[in-house]
Order: sequence, then structure tokens, then C-alpha cells
Amino acid sequence: MFFDTLLTKARIGPYYFVNKHMMKKATVAGTAPTLVELEEGKTYYWCSCGNSVGQPWCNGAHKGSDFTPNAFTAEESKKAAICLCKQTSNPPYCDGSHANA
Ligand code: FES
Repeated sequence: MFFDTLLTKARIGPYYFVNKHMMKKATVAGTAPTLVELEEGKTYYWCSCGNSVGQPWCNGAHKGSDFTPNAFTAEESKKAAICLCKQTSNPPYCDGSHANA
């Protein structure tokens, strides 16, 4: 009954719930975004688990976990603030969530 009311994201200790599924929270890889020069048309794989040593990009360290990289293709060449705290609600871009990480 309790879990039926969790239709969105909720955090409890080191875990969070998304639509009734319990998942471990991502590792905070940094408490500020990193500025990256994106190249138009290039596909990137943003690390969502926080365990990659090649931040902010996936290096396969998520294997065996609930996490998968977030693939995106840059629509234009530009400098962008990429999330390292892994709490952003607009991946891979920083939304200021690191203030609470
Ligand atoms: S290493 Fe973090 S999502 Fe792949």
C-alpha cells in the first residue's frame, strides 16, 4: 500500500524509489559540474552511476548495477556544464542539484 503511493522519485537513505522500484543512489562523482566542449553530431555516453574514472563519461564501471549510461547526441558544438553529482533531473546537463548532493 505504501509503495503504491510512490509514483515518482523518493529517497530513503542510500536508496531511492522510482515508480515502486528500489534502486541504489548514484555515487556523487563531484559536487560541481564540469565544463565540456561538445561536438555537433557526436554521440556521448554520460555516466549515470558516478563510478567511472573517466567522468563525466561512461567507462563500463556500471556493469552489474542498476545503472546504464545515458546516450545523447550533441545538437550543436558548444561548451556545456555536465552534471557530476548524478542528481540532475536533466541529464547530462547540470540543473543545480549539486547544491543538495
Ligand atoms: S560507468 Fe557509470 S554509467 Fe557506465
